[in-house]
Amino acid sequence: MIRLEQVSKTFNAGTPSEVKALQNIQLNIAPQTYLVLLGANGSGKSTLLNAIAGSFRVDKGEIWIDNQDVTSLKDFQRSPWIARIFQNPLSGTAPDLSVIDNFRLAALRTRPKGLRIGVNAAFKAQVKEKIALLGMGLENKIEQAMGTLSGGQRQALTLMMAVMDETKILLMDEPTAALDPRSAETLMQKADEIIRTFQLTAILVTHHLKDAHRFGNRVIQMEQGQVLRDLDATAKSALHLSDLFGWFE
Ligand SMILES: Nc1ncnc2c1ncn2[C@@H]1O[C@H](COP(=O)(O)OP(=O)(O)O)[C@@H](O)[C@H]1O
Ligand SMILES: [Mg+2]
Repeated sequence: MIRLEQVSKTFNAGTPSEVKALQNIQLNIAPQTYLVLLGANGSGKSTLLNAIAGSFRVDKGEIWIDNQDVTSLKDFQRSPWIARIFQNPLSGTAPDLSVIDNFRLAALRTRPKGLRIGVNAAFKAQVKEKIALLGMGLENKIEQAMGTLSGGQRQALTLMMAVMDETKILLMDEPTAALDPRSAETLMQKADEIIRTFQLTAILVTHHLKDAHRFGNRVIQMEQGQVLRDLDATAKSALHLSDLFGWFE
């Protein structure tokens, strides 16, 4: 589903603050992989997600999505495949707009220019149906401004926006970092359910080793822009939580 061929990215090249954020990354992520990405701060996790999403052009190498070379495609051109959830519940949604209008914007994002989506009854019903899958009662709040909802509620809605348009890839960069423990737990559970139900290929960046242990079917640890460890489903399920803690000693 996602393939990186010898991908490198250096920031501030040739200056004293030069950082080799990604160094010859070779990675093949099969469809329906739920990959957990671990690594110390600055190891290149976010840069890896940004490279996949097309936030910048990589210096070297190729990125393939769904058997298509997307290396030279900009982020909005890759958006039909990719949905993202960020650390900050505010990024990715418009706080002043209603929930339904946010979904409308998200739908427009992946459709060809010129195509219009009205907030008509059919679209509303479709959105309500999707939101109801969260089981959080948010389907009754679709006229409310996004900014009036809690961080956890907003992250959950962002998750549902991701699956509205049959997006196949979900990139989550520390999605629970700004949430209280209970909302974080709910979001992680819902994400897991939705990844399975919609057969998504997902990458989760997290510092919570307990989440890394119980979720996903592959785990990678990055260090200084390189893949230090890469465990498949079998190896991951044999892993104890204490092993994971050992990776960071
Ligand atoms: N836009 C940028 N400009 C300059 N340096 C950057 C930029 N983005 C990331 N870096 C640097 O690249 C390295 C990897 O960063 P990042 O991928 O954000 O790490 P992580 O997400 O694992 O904490 C860090 O040293 C960071 O300071
Ligand atoms: Mg990061």
